[in-house]
Amino acid sequence: MGVEILDFDDAYRDLRRALVSLHYSAWGGLDDLASALRARRSGFPFASYLGVYAREGDELLSAVFVSQYRLTTPQGPEPAAGIELVMTRPDAMRRGLAAQLLREVHRRERSAGRRLALLCTGRSNLAHELYLKLGYQDIFYPRTALRYIDRRTSSAPPGFRVRPARRSDAPALARVHRRANAGALGFAQRDPRAYRARFLSGAGAARGVLVAERQGRVAGYATLEPHSTWGRAGEVIAPTREIRSALMASLERRSSGRWLAFASDWFSGEDDPELARCTPLLPSYAVMMACPLAPELRRRNLYQWLRSTGRPFACQLLDMF
Ligand SMILES: CC(C)(COP(=O)(O)OP(=O)(O)OC[C@H]1O[C@@H](n2cnc3c(N)ncnc32)[C@H](O)[C@@H]1OP(=O)(O)O)[C@@H](O)C(=O)NCCC(=O)NCCS
Repeated sequence: MGVEILDFDDAYRDLRRALVSLHYSAWGGLDDLASALRARRSGFPFASYLGVYAREGDELLSAVFVSQYRLTTPQGPEPAAGIELVMTRPDAMRRGLAAQLLREVHRRERSAGRRLALLCTGRSNLAHELYLKLGYQDIFYPRTALRYIDRRTSSAPPGFRVRPARRSDAPALARVHRRANAGALGFAQRDPRAYRARFLSGAGAARGVLVAERQGRVAGYATLEPHSTWGRAGEVIAPTREIRSALMASLERRSSGRWLAFASDWFSGEDDPELARCTPLLPSYAVMMACPLAPELRRRNLYQWLRSTGRPFACQLLDMF
């Protein structure tokens, strides 16, 4: 029986049970279907067709979701395709299905004018090999340092208030992120809608974002993903030392007796005194990859190209994939 490619809407309408079980077997969850439909109603961040599926008879065997990103390259800001939730049912692996779907997505995105496709994976994930074969290149490796919070050592400078974010903070968060990354390449200009869609939607999601306010205005923020014995401060946007201290004091208060993992952008450089209180910065297995879709980018070493001007490369939270 031949394999046919269909869009999310067709799969959702005709093969709902197969679609749910494919997502469940790959990701152990079902919520994504509903939230993807909700996100698309707001026009962002997914592609109009959401994703493509490989169908054989009444079975769905493989899927790829597609979202929208904005990347700043030495040639300026440009929209890019985001590849998400690549999955093949375990009993259909190694038949070339994921590769076939990705080629189809590349074809669609190229004809929609996108010059690059982006994704995140693990360097030890089998999928890394698949992406390399399709022309993807590693463009960013996040680094993390850990600190045990046995007591509070930072104090909030006067004039700051740190509080959990609200959905209505989305434009202000986008504004401080954009200002802090002015002049940088990479993910320096997030679409403001990304904040609502990615980390301020869903029950309680906004509690994972701490906002530092001065005189009622949002001056910076940090994300905190709490676990029972540790937490992750994945992104900090603190344009000044004072704002960073205010956020740090709040994180310490919330993380007493636990390890905190800080992404490298907490630190202003390798000689930041804050680093002396942490384990050394270590690269993680996670990696951001990019695939040139436009012929003129194919011969480029994208890692070097995205750093060729000496401007910093911005990528916090593995840019919210
Ligand atoms: C990764 C995954 C999507 C691959 O799907 P697939 O349909 O089997 O992939 P393909 O058949 O198109 O494989 C293409 C290439 O990827 C590599 N690859 C894929 N599966 C592999 C495996 N089990 N072992 C070694 N290499 C593998 C190979 O290079 C392969 O080419 P080859 O078969 O000619 O050697 C699938 O294993 C999966 O769903 N895994 C769980 C979810 C996941 O981790 N997704 C990726 C998130 S970033």
